[in-house]
Amino acid sequence: MAKPTDLLKEEHKAVLQRLADLEQIINDLDQKEKVSAKLKELGSFFDTEFWVHFDKEEKALFPEFDNFMPRGAGPIAVMLEEHVVLRKTNADFQQAVAKYLGNADTAETRRAIYQSGSHFIGTLRDHIFKEDNILFRMAEIHLNAGQMEKVTLLFADIDRAKQVKA
Ligand SMILES: [Fe+2]
Repeated sequence: MAKPTDLLKEEHKAVLQRLADLEQIINDLDQKEKVSAKLKELGSFFDTEFWVHFDKEEKALFPEFDNFMPRGAGPIAVMLEEHVVLRKTNADFQQAVAKYLGNADTAETRRAIYQSGSHFIGTLRDHIFKEDNILFRMAEIHLNAGQMEKVTLLFADIDRAKQVKA
């Protein structure tokens, strides 16, 4: 059975690719015709599918750390705080993107997309780096085979639940 940390790392790679695409787009907002379709697609990914990944971490992987690391402190607390920041930044980004794709393609809207988008990109890259290199390594050392298997099975449940909803 696949290790849950390997599954999350694979998802990180796909997310990093999308962040690279998004970085290009937010630098070309003055070319609305060129960027609109891609911005819409990326915006929709970061508004929906992307959060399934956070669910996997928050509902399946992180709880397995409870035996050896308090939730309120240490790396899990930092990761959860960053998830909150990313949710808030995404909300600001989505609002600006909706305006831009609607009829409010003003300099102010473009600035709002650029600011929230760059913040989201920078924070998420840094967050993924910490998960890949610190948190997931700790999981691989501290969680036993039964725990790893349980998390992988929960991931499949989370994926299935999302498909039913979609
Ligand atoms: Fe992650």
